[in-house]
Amino acid sequence: MTGSIGQRRESVLASTDEASAWRRTFVWTLALGAFCLAVGGCRQASTEPRLIPAKELVRLADSRVRKADGVPPRIVKQIGETLEHYFGTPNEPRMFEPAKEDAAEQSPADEPSAAEGEAGKPQQPKRVAQKSSEQLKRGLAVFTKRCAACHGASGDGAGPVAAYLRPRPRDYRLGIFKFTSTPYGTKPRRADLIRTVLRGAKGTSMPAFPFLEEEDLQAVVDYVVMLSQRGEVEQLLLAEGESFDPENAEEMFAPDEMAAVVTQVADAWREAEHKQVIPLTSEPAYTEESIAQGRAIFMREECFKCHGTDGRGRTPEPIGKDIWVGEDVYAADLSSGMLHGGRRSIDIYRRIYSGVNGTRMPSFTEKFKDDPDAVWHLVHFIVSITEGRKFGR
Ligand code: HEC
Ligand code: HEC
Repeated sequence: MTGSIGQRRESVLASTDEASAWRRTFVWTLALGAFCLAVGGCRQASTEPRLIPAKELVRLADSRVRKADGVPPRIVKQIGETLEHYFGTPNEPRMFEPAKEDAAEQSPADEPSAAEGEAGKPQQPKRVAQKSSEQLKRGLAVFTKRCAACHGASGDGAGPVAAYLRPRPRDYRLGIFKFTSTPYGTKPRRADLIRTVLRGAKGTSMPAFPFLEEEDLQAVVDYVVMLSQRGEVEQLLLAEGESFDPENAEEMFAPDEMAAVVTQVADAWREAEHKQVIPLTSEPAYTEESIAQGRAIFMREECFKCHGTDGRGRTPEPIGKDIWVGEDVYAADLSSGMLHGGRRSIDIYRRIYSGVNGTRMPSFTEKFKDDPDAVWHLVHFIVSITEGRKFGR
């Protein structure tokens, strides 16, 4: 079954028939029990432009946060205990990962310290502490003070004010982030999260926090990573948990299966650190000619079908549902002067090259792999409209 857990991830992401809201009272989501969203299944708008049938994109955009409804209560309980085991409690957050060679023997009943087995007894599996509990506690304090009202105490994006915000504050539990410097479909680098917190997401309610002390900044980002890993592990286990027989009380997760999921999620984050997208060519000069070329590519590649011929993103119909809560979304307004993912050339480059995870904005990595300057021309075109110049049509 361990092997199938990897694939289960697909099924979490591929689920099309799930309503999005669920609030299980795992340890620390208790406080948020009152917030319940009910969202219908995902239907694609019939007017949706037929573009780049990126399977990935469709898969991501049709997914939903997993509910615990179809999971037998004993398994829900087991998952709750496992989460507490690896990620602690609100007052004692922690982040442990099964040590590689021990993953197979991992048991949720073990203490976090590495202990040598006595002769004749099975060795206690070792665990790797990723972040000190002190650091996470500091992160928790910052998060509670500055972030939880929007992002929710459990990182589910459903804090007290979230319902009034468009786009919604990020639900970290899917482990999907928009503004990454990594390839499409991968985790962000730590630096990406730091940048988002420092600069905010212009044009959304995500504020900039340039005044945070360095230690607080680092700690709150660690805490966000922990919430995300915890949430994703929970989502993956719930998905797997649905296949358990409600009648057969004997059937439970084996500890090594759960450990393997924790490892899988932690590995994805670790690997992303080394996957920064570096433009293949350096930025050409910002000239009228480059802008004109960008405009031509914008039309040729049918960016206008989502972003509109004026780049304002006001298509007559929404272009799809968002992945997190299933709300109607429109493409970004490229003319507003407030690019959510940042307005530096490199930010815009990455948004085009790598796409925007969890949204309908596809990755154009394949498209422009033999013509990397095309991305820069598009960047220049977008800079030109974002600076308020007239779109010459
Ligand atoms: C007033 C509400 C609000 C507050 C307070 C807030 N955020 Fe956000 N945050 C948002 C919204 C809205 C988004 C989604 C932006 C989007 O989807 O474009 C977001 C997105 C994010 C993202 C995801 C970026 C990505 O690449 O997907 C991170 C990480 C984040 N916030 C961290 C924080 C942290 C850390 C704090 C506290 C220091 C914080 N936020 C405080 C509203 C808020
Ligand atoms: C299938 C629809 C679709 C197509 C095609 C599309 N986009 Fe997008 N694009 C989106 C959506 C939706 C977003 C907003 C993502 C989000 O929620 O932050 C977006 C965001 C962006 C952003 C980031 C804006 C910001 O606020 O940071 C840029 C830049 C962008 N698109 C450029 C392009 C270019 C250039 C093309 C063509 C090569 C293109 N897009 C094609 C849907 C599309």
